[in-house]
Order: sequence, then structure tokens, then C-alpha cells
Amino acid sequence: MKKEISILGIESTCDETSAALLKGGRELVSNVIYSQIEEHKKYHGVVPELASRAHAAKIATVIAEALGDRPLDYVAFASGPGLPGGLMVGRVAAQTLAEFKQVPLIGVNHLEGHLFACNFEETQAQERLQFPLVALIVSGGHTELWYVKGYGDYKVLGRTRDDAAGEAFDKVAKLLGLPYPGGPQVSKQALNGRRDAIAFPRPLLPGTWEFSFSGIKTAVSYYLRDHQHINIADVCASFEMAMVDTLVTKTLLAAKKYKVKHIAVGGGVAANTLLRQLMNERGASQGVEVHFVERKLSSDNAAMIALVAYKKLQYAEQTGKPLKANINIDPNMKVRRWG
Ligand code: KG4
Ligand code: ZN
Repeated sequence: MKKEISILGIESTCDETSAALLKGGRELVSNVIYSQIEEHKKYHGVVPELASRAHAAKIATVIAEALGDRPLDYVAFASGPGLPGGLMVGRVAAQTLAEFKQVPLIGVNHLEGHLFACNFEETQAQERLQFPLVALIVSGGHTELWYVKGYGDYKVLGRTRDDAAGEAFDKVAKLLGLPYPGGPQVSKQALNGRRDAIAFPRPLLPGTWEFSFSGIKTAVSYYLRDHQHINIADVCASFEMAMVDTLVTKTLLAAKKYKVKHIAVGGGVAANTLLRQLMNERGASQGVEVHFVERKLSSDNAAMIALVAYKKLQYAEQTGKPLKANINIDPNMKVRRWG
């Protein structure tokens, strides 16, 4: 593999249309993100049909802006998990570009992208992630806990049984009449509230590494139903605390059980300030170092897709094993070992 290869990443799994150009595995030449939030706002969540249309309308200009007239060695796109319509738009755009430019096409798991985004820091030449580690991937569509031995070497410990963490934030925001996306809105309100005002449940599901957040959301809806005068700030602060406490407690338990000294946290919810604070504090007291994704790469973006593709190419070269191109889209794609 030549040293300065250029990979164009494409991301279209949910409600961001994005393309990014990564050079030599570390230089992010561009990372163009078109967010569809305005389109979905009035529905308080992502409407799949609207998302597909917006991806179709935007993807060509987003790619043109990210690539310009620069040279290209590979095209990578997120082939799953995600909404089928968005995945199809991404695949068609990626394949068309790859065939036109006569370069190989690589499919990438979107959730691996969220993990690899934790490895990126523009100002640092060195890699941040140290293995083995426990990874918490928390977004609007997914909440997963992985044991990661090295690049491409994963064991999924648990997933959510119902709502994803971001989804719970979005649904509680909707109950409170706050705009979509709910996470940042709930956090903002919570700044003026008391974390211990209301005792919402912490569903730890002992004996499993799974999560379940619909019970916390239901507890909030019962609280709103049963109280006439509510303090929104207290509800938000107590809800956020219940969510974050559950995420931090389970992740640190997993780190202890698997005897790891490193944790990585990626995905849209990784932008949450309380999560960052408590995971860092409690992690430090357990001798664990926590690597949070940089805020600007926490939500969906194509840089993370190109980062995974680069590592996959490197892995194929180092091990002599053929690269698994994974170009068939799969809305329910599970993370798989590379080897
Ligand atoms: O990773 P992402 O951009 O999209 C998916 O792949 O789902 O994550 C979006 C999710 C939304 O549910 C949003 O409410 C949540 O991340 N989120 C937050 C915060 N910022 C975004 N949740 C809690 N606190 C935040 N500060
Ligand atoms: Zn995502």
C-alpha cells in the first residue's frame, strides 16, 4: 500500500449525508456533512422516507465538495447498519464513483466507524486507542458494548433490548415538548436542575451486558402524567443522571470483568457532557483511561468511514489476508471480526 493513499468515505445510514477525504490515514482533507435535522424536526425523529429523499438530493453535491479535483485511490461507504433507503443511495453513489474513477470499493460497518472516530485527533500523530479495551457505542439508533482485543477483533458483549440511549433522550425531549434532537436540549435544561430531584430507575440488568432504556422513558412519562406542576429542569437533570449512571456503571463493570485499562466511547450521545465527566471521573478512580471521541466527530460523519477503510487496508497488507469488501448493504449488519 502506498503511503499517502486517498480514501473518499461516504456516510448515509441515517440523517446525515456526508463525504470525507482522508489522506495517508491521518490527514482529514475534507469532511462535508449535510445534516437533515431541519427536515425531521417537526416529526421529533427521523422519518425514513424523507431521509432517503434528502440523501438522494444531496449526495452528489456533498461528494463533489469533499473530493474536488483531487486524486483518489479508494471509495469507502457505510454499508450497514442503517435505514435501507439511505444505504441504497450511499451504495449507488459510491459504486458509480468507484467505477468512474476505476478504483476499488470498500463497504464499512457504520458502528465500527463510531469506534474508529475515537482514534482520531488532528493535532496528534500518534494513535489514541490502546488495546484491549471496552467500547461503548451510543447513538440515536444503537447502544452496544464491545470487548475489543485489537483492530477488527471484536466480541459484542451486549446491545440494547429496546430503545437506544439517544432514542430515549429524543423521546423524553418529545414528552417535554423540547425540539429534536433531544439529547442536547435535555442536557441544556438539566444544567438548572437537581440530579437527585426524582428517583428514576437505573436498569442495570445484572448478569447480562445488555441495556434497556424504555423503562426510564416510561418512568418519566408516568411522572409527567401524575404531577401537575413539574420543574422541567429537575426532570431533565434526574433523567440524564439515570441514563448516564446506567451507561457508566455497566461500562466500568465490563472493564473490570475483562480486566482492561482502556475504554472508548463513540456515537452521538458521546457528546454528552455529564457522560464525559462521570465516565472520566469514575474511570480514573478504577485506574481506567477513557478515550472519548472528539465532539465534532461524535455524530454521523464520513471521516469515520474512511478511517475504518484505511485500517482494513493496513490490516490486509500486514496479515496477508484478503480484504473483506462487504459491499452488499445490510440494514441490520452486525459487527464482525476481520480475520
Ligand atoms: O450518532 P448519531 O449522530 O446518529 C446515529 O447514528 O443515531 O447520534 C444521534 C443521537 C440523537 O439521538 C441525539 O439526541 C443524541 O445522539 N445526542 C445526545 C447529545 N448530542 C446528541 N444525547 C445526549 N446528550 C447529548 N449532548
Ligand atoms: Zn451513527
